[in-house]
Amino acid sequence: MTEARITVNGKETPISPAAPHTTALDFLRERGLTGTKEGCAEGECGACSVLVARPGVNKPTDWVAINACLLPAAALDGQEVITSEGLATVEGPGAPRTLHPVQEEMAARGGSQCGYCTPGFVCSMASEYYRPDRCAHAGSGEDDGSRDGADAEHGPNGFDLHALSGNLCRCTGYRPIRDAAFAVGTPTDQDPLAQRREQAPPAPAATAYAQEGKTFLRPGTLADVLRLLREKPEAVVVAGSTDWGVEVNIRSRRAECVVAVDRLPELRALRVDGDHVEIGAALTLTEIERRLDGRVPLLGELFPQFASRLIRNSATLGGNLGTGSPIGDSAPALLALEASLVLADADGQREVALADYFTGYRQSVRRPGELIRAVRVPLPPAPVVAFHKIAKRRFDDISSVAVAFALDIQDGHVRTARIGLGGVAATPIRSLATEAALEGRPWTAQTVQAAARVLEAEGTPMSDHRASAGYRSAMLGQSLLKLYAQTTEGVSS
Ligand code: FES
Ligand code: FES
Repeated sequence: MTEARITVNGKETPISPAAPHTTALDFLRERGLTGTKEGCAEGECGACSVLVARPGVNKPTDWVAINACLLPAAALDGQEVITSEGLATVEGPGAPRTLHPVQEEMAARGGSQCGYCTPGFVCSMASEYYRPDRCAHAGSGEDDGSRDGADAEHGPNGFDLHALSGNLCRCTGYRPIRDAAFAVGTPTDQDPLAQRREQAPPAPAATAYAQEGKTFLRPGTLADVLRLLREKPEAVVVAGSTDWGVEVNIRSRRAECVVAVDRLPELRALRVDGDHVEIGAALTLTEIERRLDGRVPLLGELFPQFASRLIRNSATLGGNLGTGSPIGDSAPALLALEASLVLADADGQREVALADYFTGYRQSVRRPGELIRAVRVPLPPAPVVAFHKIAKRRFDDISSVAVAFALDIQDGHVRTARIGLGGVAATPIRSLATEAALEGRPWTAQTVQAAARVLEAEGTPMSDHRASAGYRSAMLGQSLLKLYAQTTEGVSS
């Protein structure tokens, strides 16, 4: 077994004697870094946000904000973490701390009252502060009252408010927090965390960490992982741990063996290969979003609605499909895109159409010991797309119903229609009857109204605490009517 360590605020800190399931949040707090807070322990409040040095999209390193409550500390072996305490600088022994620019703005603009949420907000804000392309569309960054370069969700300094979508505050109100976000400038050349972006992040450590008879393993290569899964098919495979972390915290689940695959190079490539784009199963949703940069418009619509930025900084397509959840948001979109999955095991790999992947509630054709290596999306994508998520909150909520459309409409006629549905059956499904009701017909109100009635009858929706079966069916039909309105009347989502 190796000795596992995390560099926290510049200081190497052994993980031992923490248990393999101990979260990064508990690990930090037990070492006195109590700025990092627990609000919900399930990825919904952001009080536990910290920064991790991760491979960058436009620079060698990005400072990525994640939910420390969901990730086991052992998953950060060899990594660099900055907490809210580490953002402030100390010039010398005994010298006072200097607040970080985002902390200064939060204080100056009244962005904190009880302060419970503040360290989490500050870390999420700092991640956006250091985003290398943040100022590409920005004004001066000065708070001169002008709104140049701004829109409803971006400040004049290019600050994207979605960076804070995973942070909740129950007592300040969000305007002063937004004011602080929109007032931060750009990092200076002397800023140590800005300088750190120019160097590569720590290489992934091959980790074998054991305590109390339980192990956390991070093999160095895909071949090692597949050999291990052949020996231990019951091992829990995690990437961003956004799902497993909830199981550990809320349902007190413990695993004999957890295997981390999120740093495997073989699962982290994004390649455009003639007639398809292949997306590594362990790329985070944020990485996919930024690397695709709108090349697959339906995924571009999906990601902002999928979950908060904090979750998207860790969650992966492999994880979302691997859980087999009927309400995972990526499946409806990928079904509409006619995606396929590359499944790998110790004997080789095979490609399975996503439409054939799910076999029952949280069940799939994936065999014990098999891993999702990549998702393949055919190119070019259909030109008319929409992702409609019906949920109680616009962002950061589980779907009651999700509907993804990918239509090719030419000369006023529907050439092809692909529709993926989530939340209306034991698995995500294709809406085959509605697709047939649309294809070859004119894209008119009459066609759409008839097809909407077909769509309302698709699936076998049930009633639960999120929505009734009748509501779910009605939302399916409404979703198609809304798409028609969007394409013909410029109705916005
Ligand atoms: Fe709420 Fe982590 S404690 S998101
Ligand atoms: Fe109290 Fe945000 S300042 S919860």
